[in-house]
Amino acid sequence: MANKAIILLAVLLCAQAVFGVAVVSKSAWGGRAPRSKTTLGNNLSYAVIHHTAGNYCSTRAACAQELRNIQSDHMDSLGWPDIGYNFLIGGDGAVYEGRGWNVVGAHATNWNSKSIGISFLGNYNHNTATSAMINAAKGILADAVSRGQIVSGYILYGHRQVSATECPGTTLWNEIRTWSNWRA
Ligand SMILES: *[C@@H]1O[C@H](CO)[C@@H](O)[C@H](O)[C@H]1NC(C)=O
Ligand SMILES: [Zn+2]
Repeated sequence: MANKAIILLAVLLCAQAVFGVAVVSKSAWGGRAPRSKTTLGNNLSYAVIHHTAGNYCSTRAACAQELRNIQSDHMDSLGWPDIGYNFLIGGDGAVYEGRGWNVVGAHATNWNSKSIGISFLGNYNHNTATSAMINAAKGILADAVSRGQIVSGYILYGHRQVSATECPGTTLWNEIRTWSNWRA
């Protein structure tokens, strides 16, 4: 019985490793440590989708450079403690760590402490998210549910639904409206 339990545990651990989305850590993209952090609670009801409205990138190196630029802008020009978003999606199909799990972001006024913010690198008034990017975003949302950061019946909004902004851009807005957790 003990052996069976150990095998079952090993299978579960492997399954988690296989099905969880790989996240490119902040240190892997050359990000700076946050100046401070505020704890974000679990079992949140919302996720908010953004675009960075900046450069599109399709390689690890180009996305890492873009992330460093955005982080500098947020920390040095805007004076924020870190890059604003919890996670970002690159045109290379990778998920990049921003503030990460259980840290309040700076992405949607009045919604930061009740949602996670995921941003697509690029301007989706002109760019179009690839299926790899869409799968990456859906993957990190599924991971957010499995770790209890957001509830399984969470509501997905585009930034424009909670603030006066065109974010996340027209093409991405049209895309996320087809996702099962999106609500009008
Ligand atoms: C989320 O809420 C459920 C039900 O109240 C609770 O059992 C669970 O521990 C909570 N998850 C986290 C990660 O806090
Ligand atoms: Zn936004």
